[in-house]
Amino acid sequence: MNQQRPRKDFRGRRDLPPERFIDLARMAAFDTLRDVHSSGAYANLALADQQRAHDLTPQEAGLCTELVNGTCRWEGTYDRIIEAAAGRSLDSLQPAIVDVLRLGTHQLLGMRTPTHAAVSTSVDLAGVALGERTTGVVNAIIRKVAAKDLDEWLDELTEGMGTLGALVLRTGHPRWIVDAWAAVLPADELEAALQADNVAPVPSLVVRPGLAERDELLADGGRPTPYSPFGVVREGNPSDIPAVRQRRAGVQDEGSQLVALALTRVEAEQGRWLDLCAGPGGKAALLAGLAQQDGSTLLANELHEHRAELVRKALMAYPVNQWQVVVGDATAGDWEPGSFTRVMADVPCSGLGSLRRRPESRWRRSPQEVHELHDLQAQLLDAAIEAAAPGGVVAYVTCSPHKAETSAIVTQVADDRVEVLDAPSLLPEVDGAAAHTDPRFVQLWPHRHGTDAMFLALLRRR
Ligand SMILES: C[S@@+](CC[C@H](N)C(=O)[O-])C[C@H]1O[C@@H](n2cnc3c(N)ncnc32)[C@H](O)[C@@H]1O
Repeated sequence: MNQQRPRKDFRGRRDLPPERFIDLARMAAFDTLRDVHSSGAYANLALADQQRAHDLTPQEAGLCTELVNGTCRWEGTYDRIIEAAAGRSLDSLQPAIVDVLRLGTHQLLGMRTPTHAAVSTSVDLAGVALGERTTGVVNAIIRKVAAKDLDEWLDELTEGMGTLGALVLRTGHPRWIVDAWAAVLPADELEAALQADNVAPVPSLVVRPGLAERDELLADGGRPTPYSPFGVVREGNPSDIPAVRQRRAGVQDEGSQLVALALTRVEAEQGRWLDLCAGPGGKAALLAGLAQQDGSTLLANELHEHRAELVRKALMAYPVNQWQVVVGDATAGDWEPGSFTRVMADVPCSGLGSLRRRPESRWRRSPQEVHELHDLQAQLLDAAIEAAAPGGVVAYVTCSPHKAETSAIVTQVADDRVEVLDAPSLLPEVDGAAAHTDPRFVQLWPHRHGTDAMFLALLRRR
């Protein structure tokens, strides 16, 4: 499958001993992992760069993507296995050698690559990329990893552990994320929810109301998403689709479509709608179309000019009298308080609800970061409530199921200025949408709904 390329591919770049040879897919995967681990690159961006730099064929690119994404997701588990096999801490190994071992471990335990191929390519990769002197240690450790299958390693490493500790290794997540999920899910769903982060979703698209019909995308090879009337799932490059290029459709997770839709389904008067934190404009584009159908208009606010520019682009297919984009800090918004009939507060959050899209992200996020977002999230919800007209509706949304940035913020800020609405009743087509922690809130989940783990609370201004 992974065709070998002539040695000239590496000429001038690395000092090769004559007997070593490595295919380009593994070489590009290794270079990507180094970018991720030594320079903090995002895996998806580094992957695209390295695939281009190595001029991979589509087949090689597929193998390289699986190597990188699987290795990044399962890094925590693989590292414990490598340490057990090596009989020493990873700190005692050169970081680049650890990346060679992680790639080899993923092939052995996650991809069912035949043992001889996984071992020999790991040793060759070490020789080509890091020099002959590193091949001995890689050979010794990777052979020990290969001596057991994944279930045997997991049984050995989790022996005597409690349920949550074992899930850390069995699902490839840091402990604090397992604990956070355990706080907001029934115990019998916990493992399925965590495992769902290990499967990349097929991209979903949204048709912008009034600009495109879903049939146009269905005729182009898409299939309807299960819940959103605007959603289409379609393999392939979205920018190949004319409606996407013309901004009559866009890429948007179905969960994001549903939370925007729920806000527009609550009874409220016609008027001005506000999107408080609009960049890059996915929800604003859906809201602008629905506002137009309602006879309302949209004001989209964003803190950063470069992200506001993305919002303008997302909205540009709509008539200019339908929307306006402004740049500013929404906690000190330059608008008339109490003047909007619907307000979307899609606040900055940890993004823990979309771990399935970002393989390395679970190892980069931290409880500290969640903690640091708390005050801003509370201030933004407060600003949203102040912006709403009497009888107006506020949606508080995060792409995270973490209690501290979801129900805890709403409970803290929602005082007698507002009534908490039954948000799941606005999405009757979505089974199991009610949050486990409080059934008035919506909590979507990848394992239940196939969406990102979006949270929604709806509040009506008294
Ligand atoms: C979760 S994103 C919004 C995603 C967007 N609603 C969408 O669907 O495309 C949060 C946005 O809030 C912006 N932001 C952060 N602090 C802000 C503030 N104080 N006022 C306004 N926007 C802010 C961020 O720059 C970011 O673009």
